[in-house]
Amino acid sequence: MKIARFSRIGFILAAAGSAVGLGNIWKFPYIAGEYGGGAFVLIYLITVLLIGFSIMIAEMLIGYLGKRDGVTSFEELAPRNKHLWKFGGFQGLAGLFIMIFYSVVIGWIFHYIVTSITHLPTNVQEAETTFNAMLHTNIFTQLFYHTLAFIWITYILTKGIKGGIEKMNLVLMPTLMIILLGMFAYAVSLDTFGQAVDFMFKADWSKIDSKAFVTAVGHAFFTLSLGMGAIMTYSASMEKGSNLVTNAFWVVFLDTSIAIVAGLMLFTFLYQYGSGPAKGPGLVFISLPAAFYEMGIIGNVFAVLFFIALAFAGLTSSVSLVEPMVQYFMDRFSWSRLKASISMGLFFYLIGIIALLSNIDGYKELLTWGDKNFFDWVDHFTAAIMLPLGGLVMAIFVGFVIEKQRVESVLRPQLGFAFDTWYFSLRYITPVAMFIVMLSFMGVL
Ligand code: PFF
Repeated sequence: MKIARFSRIGFILAAAGSAVGLGNIWKFPYIAGEYGGGAFVLIYLITVLLIGFSIMIAEMLIGYLGKRDGVTSFEELAPRNKHLWKFGGFQGLAGLFIMIFYSVVIGWIFHYIVTSITHLPTNVQEAETTFNAMLHTNIFTQLFYHTLAFIWITYILTKGIKGGIEKMNLVLMPTLMIILLGMFAYAVSLDTFGQAVDFMFKADWSKIDSKAFVTAVGHAFFTLSLGMGAIMTYSASMEKGSNLVTNAFWVVFLDTSIAIVAGLMLFTFLYQYGSGPAKGPGLVFISLPAAFYEMGIIGNVFAVLFFIALAFAGLTSSVSLVEPMVQYFMDRFSWSRLKASISMGLFFYLIGIIALLSNIDGYKELLTWGDKNFFDWVDHFTAAIMLPLGGLVMAIFVGFVIEKQRVESVLRPQLGFAFDTWYFSLRYITPVAMFIVMLSFMGVL
C-alpha cells in the first residue's frame, strides 16, 4: 500500500499538532501548580531534553525506515524474531484507549466555547457549581458534544494524510499559536506577570519527592505524544531525505514553548483576576472562567478564543491518536480508509460514552472500581502502563535490535558528534527511567 507523504512544514505542524494538546494547556499548568511550580518545571524540562528528545528521534526513525503502519514497521525492521517484535507496533492501541476520555474532555471544551459566549460564571463558586453540574448530572450536554468531537475527528481521518490531517494542521496550528501569543502579550503587560514567572521558574525543592519526579517523566512522555505510535505513524509519511533531528527539535521546541507560554499566561490571569495558581483539573474549567469574568469585556473575548485554541489543540492531537490503528487496518487488512476511520471512531466513541457515564451520579457507583471510576482508570492505565511500556519497547528496539549500522547510516550524519551520547542514553538511561515510572505508577515503588 502506498502511503501519502507530508510536505516538510506539513509534517512538522502535524507532529507538533499531535504533541501540543490538552496535555500542554490543560494538564501541564495544573500539575505544575500541584507540585509547587519551579522545581517541578525544571525537572520536566530536563526530562524533555534528556529522554523525550532522544525517544522522539528513535520513534521517528522507526516510522521513517519502516514506512508502514507500526506493526509492519517493527516486523520489517527486526532482523530476527519478527513475529515477536511486531507486537511492539501495537502501542498504537494506547492512542485509541486515550481517546476514550480525551474525546469526552474535548466535548467539555466545545461546551465551554458556547457558554463563554452566552454566560461566564461571576465567581469561583458559581464556576464550580456549573462545572460539577455538567460533569455529574448533565448527560445530554456531554453526549451531544462528545458526538460532535467524534464526527469531526472521524471526518478528518477519512480524508487521509494530505487532504485531512495535513490540511487541518496547516490551518489550526498557526491559528492556535496566534491566539495564545496574542493573549500572552496581554498577560505580559499585567503587573502580576512577574509573579507568574517566579511561580513557574523559582525552584522550591522541598516540594519535590519521587512522585513529582515520576509525574514529570510521565508527563514529558504524554505531552510529546511518545510511546503510542502517533509520531511513528506520521513519520512513515515523512519526505525522503528529511532531517529527523531537526524535525524532532522543532516538535519538542514548539511543544515545550507552548506549554510554558500557556502556563505563564494562565497563572498571570489567575494572580491578577483570580485566586492565584489553582490546583487540580478544575484550573481551566473553574478558576479560569471566573477570572475571565473579572476581566470585563476583554475577558469575554479571551474566554471564547481560549477555549477555541484549546479545542484546536485537542482535535489535532486526537487525529494522531487514532491514525496509527487506522493505518494498521488499512495496511494489514486492506480496509478502505473510510471503513478503518469509522470503525476506530466508533470504538472510542462508544466506549467514551461509558467513560462519560462513569462521572454521572447514578451510574458512577456502577462504574467505579476501587478508588477510581472508569474514566480515571483508562487515564491511569494508559499513562501508567501502556505509555512507558511503549517507550521502553521502542528504546530497546532501536538501541539493541535494529542493526547499529542501519541506525547510524541515517542518524550519524544528522547528529554528528552527539550520536554516541544519544545512542547511549537510548540504550541505558531511557529504559531504566521508563521502568521506574512504570513500577512507581503501579505502586511498587
Ligand atoms: N500530546 C498530547 C497532549 O499533550 O495532549 C496527547 C497525546 C497525543 C498523547 C497523541 C499521545 C499521542 F500519541
